[in-house]
Amino acid sequence: MDEARNEQPRRPVSVPWVVGAPARGERLVMMTAYDFSQARLVEQAGADIVLVGDSLAMVVLGHDDTLSVTVDEMLHHVRAVRRGVEKSLLVADMPYGSFHLGRRRTVAEAVRFIKEAGAQAVKIEGRRPETVAALTAAEIPVMAHLGLTPQSIHRLGGFRVQGRGKGPRTELLEAARELEAAGAFSLVLECVPADLAAEVTATLEIPTIGIGAGPDCDGQVLVFHDLLGLEDRLSPRFVRRYAELGSAARQALSAFAADVREGRFPSSDESYDDPALHGADPIRKIYG
Ligand code: KIV
Repeated sequence: MDEARNEQPRRPVSVPWVVGAPARGERLVMMTAYDFSQARLVEQAGADIVLVGDSLAMVVLGHDDTLSVTVDEMLHHVRAVRRGVEKSLLVADMPYGSFHLGRRRTVAEAVRFIKEAGAQAVKIEGRRPETVAALTAAEIPVMAHLGLTPQSIHRLGGFRVQGRGKGPRTELLEAARELEAAGAFSLVLECVPADLAAEVTATLEIPTIGIGAGPDCDGQVLVFHDLLGLEDRLSPRFVRRYAELGSAARQALSAFAADVREGRFPSSDESYDDPALHGADPIRKIYG
């Protein structure tokens, strides 16, 4: 099924298409992106969903957690990603503080992501069925997020696996049902035991998208920088690095530095001449 999908011409991905994925037996692919060139790569790779995650705070802005990124910073990046995304569904993560201060303000902040940045849906962390319902009533599709919710890092006491043990397990299952009933169109499950994710997935009709949640979710997501080996500070067990672009980039940058220092860059082919003085082709293109 997935191979056939890779060969078909891509159609724009819509929220109803995402919701229908489990019934069609199709696995969803979500990747994060934070700027125009990353968005183009992820789009060209055929991601169904592009998430501008608040992981931006850590992998792009260099913070130790996700708490400090603001709505304005997120908007700046969602706009850039919008320019690079054509067919994938564009989801904007609502940062900490933007959906905690009352429904009116939450809806107003979410509307900015749709109107000012071209997002097609927002993601919010935690068990917040009323917020999901308010956003859905304002025509804003919501991706929910349970398990390890990094915005709760202080309450959780660190980046830890969630949903272990009978009580937490039941609580997570109940929360998932509530969020679905409130109108969420999908649910991210982060860092929960694989069998719990499988049970949530079997219980819900909306798709689950896992990260560190085992193989039985309806889809999977990884952070761009983790997947490509660009992030070397944290290395969670659930990350599979499909490339080592960090070390490739370091090698290329060092080679440039060495060539400059040794006078090997630029060569004459990488320099311009003056055709009036040397009789060279006057139409030689600057970028040719
Ligand atoms: O911020 C993020 O990138 C996320 C994904 C890991 C789901 O929330």
